[in-house]
Amino acid sequence: MYNETVLDHFQNPRNTGEIADASGVGSVGNPACGDMMKLYIKVVDGRLMDVRYKTFGCAAAIATSSIASEMVKGKTVEQAEQLTREDVVEALHGLPEEKVNCSTLAPDAIRAAIANYSRSRSSG
Ligand code: FES
Repeated sequence: MYNETVLDHFQNPRNTGEIADASGVGSVGNPACGDMMKLYIKVVDGRLMDVRYKTFGCAAAIATSSIASEMVKGKTVEQAEQLTREDVVEALHGLPEEKVNCSTLAPDAIRAAIANYSRSRSSG
């Protein structure tokens, strides 16, 4: 039911782990199933120089976390914020209909980490 791209990212997820001196951290959960994602970003000169995450979830949650991390790494904060679940699903060449909801987790976690980063900057 999963295509090869999804299976590849599920079996070999990219950019997993944590960032000890992260600029921002975002934690999100999918209330429908209880799956969770914690995402760390390292921002240098307005760009996401590193992106790491820990995802406790289904194959689609892990595959979307993996590809989303690749899609925003190196991008500006503003560009990363624009990532949608449609972008993520498209990059994976599609997800089974009943798994599309799982693709919300990664863009939400990225926005949560960016919000955390922005707050810490404005509080000086
Ligand atoms: Fe929970 Fe996929 S079933 S994110």
